Amino acid sequence: MPHFVVDSTRRQSIINGVMKTPVTVTVTGAAGNISYSLLFRIAAGEMLGADQPIVLKLLEITPCLDKLKGVVMELEDCAFPLVQEIVATDDPAVAFKDANWCMLVGSVPRKAGMERKDLLGINGKVFVGQGKAIAENAAPDCKVFVVGNPCNTNCLIALHNATGMPKENFFAMTQLDEYRAKSQLAAKAGVPVAAVTNMVIWGNHSSTQYPDFTNAKINGKPVTDVISDIEWLKGDFIKTVQQRGAAIIQARGASSAASAANAALMTIKNLVTPTPEGDWFSVSSITDGTKYGLPAGIICSQPTRTNADGTHTIVEGLPIDEFSRAKIDATCQELLAERADIKDLL
Ligand code: NAD
Ligand code: LMR
Repeated sequence: MPHFVVDSTRRQSIINGVMKTPVTVTVTGAAGNISYSLLFRIAAGEMLGADQPIVLKLLEITPCLDKLKGVVMELEDCAFPLVQEIVATDDPAVAFKDANWCMLVGSVPRKAGMERKDLLGINGKVFVGQGKAIAENAAPDCKVFVVGNPCNTNCLIALHNATGMPKENFFAMTQLDEYRAKSQLAAKAGVPVAAVTNMVIWGNHSSTQYPDFTNAKINGKPVTDVISDIEWLKGDFIKTVQQRGAAIIQARGASSAASAANAALMTIKNLVTPTPEGDWFSVSSITDGTKYGLPAGIICSQPTRTNADGTHTIVEGLPIDEFSRAKIDATCQELLAERADIKDLL
């Protein structure tokens, strides 16, 4: 299998002070649209910190290696001081070797008129091989983050095939949905988006997801104290967030890329940075069947905190009213149905 390595040890010498041990970040679909935004921000230190050296391992399918070569040339031309080495390959064993973070972006995006779960037949099997390759090659405490759609169930497939790896190290992206929800609430309330906190997306990254306005806050107050238009919150707000990906495909002729890259980067930043007191963020992770009535064994978006020691905790005790209960149950049912559809891949 062809692969090429760019050794930039010369750059190490221009980083002053004590060098941290480099972190190996593997990104799949590295010549794709999301990666074209994501890689440069990772390399600039926006994800793991401005003092964290990085080894980038980039995986593509063989026909896209030439395109990937161009991306690597551009990365080189940025002369990012943190980048110690770039490996570009079509061999998963090479790409996942010693990986600390595996960002699984590579997979086909949907077209207008499709639901994300319509991609399971095309994309699902990719995550069988990649799950196995991660278990065989990555660092034992490697964390895996799935962006490729349908990301929750693809993540479940990777988890089941990564024999021996801790289940709690697998995540799928719902941060983009959280940002979409915050942005909609901020616009409606006429406040800066930073005023919106405590927003959790429950369930699946799909048109059944539930952006939970009942537990969200604006300037520290319940959303419903600030936005009195309950019909909007229960109706257009939820629908807009659920359908935002489709609306972008409709408008742009291609699925979200820069905003997806931003959310991917921010998820990992959130997973490595202690969460501000009292807040949480949205990421999908494996359910254990003990919290909020979520069925066990699905990759479900839940309110998550990163602790000072780098571990993660699901925030417990949030009130779930009757309206929220029905929405959460519906999105979990969809995740169970997706799991049933791909049971042969688990
Ligand atoms: P893209 O088509 O531009 O790029 C995907 C890249 O993946 C391509 O270069 C392709 O060659 C590569 N690829 C395909 N199979 C591969 C494999 N087995 N190994 C390695 N690389 C492989 O698509 P994009 O816009 O970058 O989107 C990528 C995925 O992310 C899509 O599935 C899309 O639906 C999804 N997405 C998810 C979210 C989210 O919130 N979870 C948001 C946006 C997009
Ligand atoms: C998104 O939410 O923008 C992505 O999942 C792409 C899509 O298919 O909607």
